[in-house]
Amino acid sequence: MIKHKEFTKRRHHLMEIAGQGSVVIVRATAPKIRNNDVHYPYRQNSDFLYLSGFSEPEAMLVLLPEDKGGESIMFCRERDRQREMWDGATAGTQGAKELFGFDQAFPMAEMENHLPGLLHGRERIYYDLGKDPDFDQRLIGWLNDFRSKTRKKFMAPDEITALDHNLHEMRLFKSRTEITVMRKSARIAAAAHRRAMRICKPGMNEAEIHAELLHAFTGSQCEASYIPIVGGGSNACILHYISNRDRLNDGDLLLIDAGAEFAGYASDITRTFPVNGKFSGPQRDLYEVVLRAQLEAIDEVRAGNPWDHVHETAVRVATEGMLDLGILKSSLDEALEEEHFKDYYVHNTGHWLGLDVHDVGEYEIDGHSRVLEPGMVLTVEPGIYIPASATGVDETWRGMGIRVEDDVVVTKAGADVLSADICKTIDDIEALMAE
Ligand code: GLY
Ligand code: MN
Ligand code: MN
Repeated sequence: MIKHKEFTKRRHHLMEIAGQGSVVIVRATAPKIRNNDVHYPYRQNSDFLYLSGFSEPEAMLVLLPEDKGGESIMFCRERDRQREMWDGATAGTQGAKELFGFDQAFPMAEMENHLPGLLHGRERIYYDLGKDPDFDQRLIGWLNDFRSKTRKKFMAPDEITALDHNLHEMRLFKSRTEITVMRKSARIAAAAHRRAMRICKPGMNEAEIHAELLHAFTGSQCEASYIPIVGGGSNACILHYISNRDRLNDGDLLLIDAGAEFAGYASDITRTFPVNGKFSGPQRDLYEVVLRAQLEAIDEVRAGNPWDHVHETAVRVATEGMLDLGILKSSLDEALEEEHFKDYYVHNTGHWLGLDVHDVGEYEIDGHSRVLEPGMVLTVEPGIYIPASATGVDETWRGMGIRVEDDVVVTKAGADVLSADICKTIDDIEALMAE
């Protein structure tokens, strides 16, 4: 678990970047109604979580870099016996200071009494406009009030700057503690995948496998970092397939894309395996292509290598494989230049991973692919999908969708695969399923 010292360090780092004369405001996510009186499970805004570790709704963090060497103020719900009978314990303002280490804490209900005073006299506000229109309006209203009431224009901040860039650069580089937490998240997800592989049999329903994944996540006191994809047969070719309600047929492959969220951090793992435990000849051939593409792409993950080399390597190896199998019919150069591979290799080879599954951070700098640096975490996830309707391809291949996805930390020496606890070679998968 991440200790408050690390959150404090993050806030101070951000305050240094924001500079004297600024105020940083980050708001907790508002709870969302699913349908009458029923809420979606609450998930804190990842920026807020990164800076505070505070997972309650109705909260707001204010950072003041020039006050007493950097002050952190939390506005949150005050403890209320009646309310806690319905919703459980809350930290309250005292808990916010004692348990979370904020310098000051005030009840959210009193926010309007305090915040304008905290803004007064600052030059710049860092705040992400556009996510909470009501609060945006109030903030702009206070600034307009200052301007109309004071002739000293410098007493009112005249800039509202997006926080994203600086904060997201910080989030892109994971600390040792974050990597430890992410390894745990990946281990929990790997265990869920092993459970699914062991239990899978022809005649089961995708929903039963989905339930096994959730059983493993919940049993580890965490949740799924996104709705698992459990796609048997040609459902694997639907990239965002989440209905997970079809029968699993003998002779088909099953693609599972499922990750855990542990202490706020996501894992994101995909494995594809035969429902009956034995790859057929063609399944083996196509699987070997995807696996080779993934392994060679992972070899490109090291500090100093541009991020797009990872994708280009996966694409080249997958394209060579599809040409060898007769799925594509041209020269390698033509298939790459004319992007014929895009008929079946339809998504990018990965993304940053962290508090968000598709984590924050730029992929390009000045129009060039970003160079990998130690501490970045990304997925490597090549996939080949040949829909049942792909009439330009021999029938053998139609309805096969294969992806292999791992979570990888960039180190000076190369790649550190966080999700190595779930096997991916054909022999290892068949052995595990035979247990
Ligand atoms: N599970 C989402 C992704 O693989 O990007
Ligand atoms: Mn995934
Ligand atoms: Mn992914």
